[in-house]
Amino acid sequence: RRPKKRTKIIEMMDELQKENVYIKDKERVEKLLCQLIQDGKSKLQIITDFDMTLSRFSINGKRCATCHNVLEDSTLVPESKKQILDELRDTYYPIEINAKMTIEEKIPFMMEWYTKGTGVLVECGLKQSDLSLAVKESNAQLREGCDWQFHALHEHSVPMLIFSAGIGDILEEIIKQHSQMYANMRVVSNYMDFNHDGMLVGFKGDLVHTYNKNEGALRNSDYFTTLKERRNIILMGDSMGDLRMADGVPNMQQILKIGFLNDNIEERLEKYKEAYDIVLVSDSTMDVPNAILKKIL
Ligand code: TMP
Ligand code: MG
Repeated sequence: RRPKKRTKIIEMMDELQKENVYIKDKERVEKLLCQLIQDGKSKLQIITDFDMTLSRFSINGKRCATCHNVLEDSTLVPESKKQILDELRDTYYPIEINAKMTIEEKIPFMMEWYTKGTGVLVECGLKQSDLSLAVKESNAQLREGCDWQFHALHEHSVPMLIFSAGIGDILEEIIKQHSQMYANMRVVSNYMDFNHDGMLVGFKGDLVHTYNKNEGALRNSDYFTTLKERRNIILMGDSMGDLRMADGVPNMQQILKIGFLNDNIEERLEKYKEAYDIVLVSDSTMDVPNAILKKIL
């Protein structure tokens, strides 16, 4: 009998032994971890989603705000508009997390949601100067351990791309209020366009929605080209669309995909286990990614 040593790193990590941690192919993950550790921080880059990946899904059973929810739940949006936004969410969120539809089938619905939703926000007369208070008053939070992670990645000069279908201005404000925006972070998201009076008039650039991150990745090929020596990637996401965030990364050698499964768990677990190397079910922390980073940095 061969000695059972082929998953030694995994077995040594307490964080990976918890029952909410699923690893379908342990030998593959073992090899990945081994390579990431061996190559070290100079070969590493992080690509991560924001809403419900860096930010928390729920706290004491209550859902936490996404970037969009920060505005929807705030006093900045009048009741009549809130109702429209709620209806949009009730229509389209079930499609976003539907386990039976393919990504291609979902895309037209996501486009509709984003187009209608941003249109409503623009009609609300939102002001740039109100955003900080809206974030303060919301229950948007970062996962436990994000602050440590951001600090550590900065300290060790590991680039972090935050790739979000949320709202760039809000996301940065959430990070500032709960941790810090560091120079090694780069955000690709939907940024608000304000006029000279600081009123929201639209959104800049091409729309990023949950399932077109592959296109966004290709648009940012310059960023990836400057990091082409960093061939190892840790990707973190909570949606099947997030798996495409690293499309177009040149010379990619290893990619370790960590998926947070927060909602519609039973229906989606199998698919997530297929698609993500490590699946973390209902985990409100960054314990697993951080434990892996501690070994690499
Ligand atoms: P993410 O790519 O950073 O996860 O952000 C996208 C999330 O925002 C996605 O889960 C859908 C959600 N969302 C809302 O909560 N309200 C909205 O109006 C829209 C358009 C998206
Ligand atoms: Mg997300």
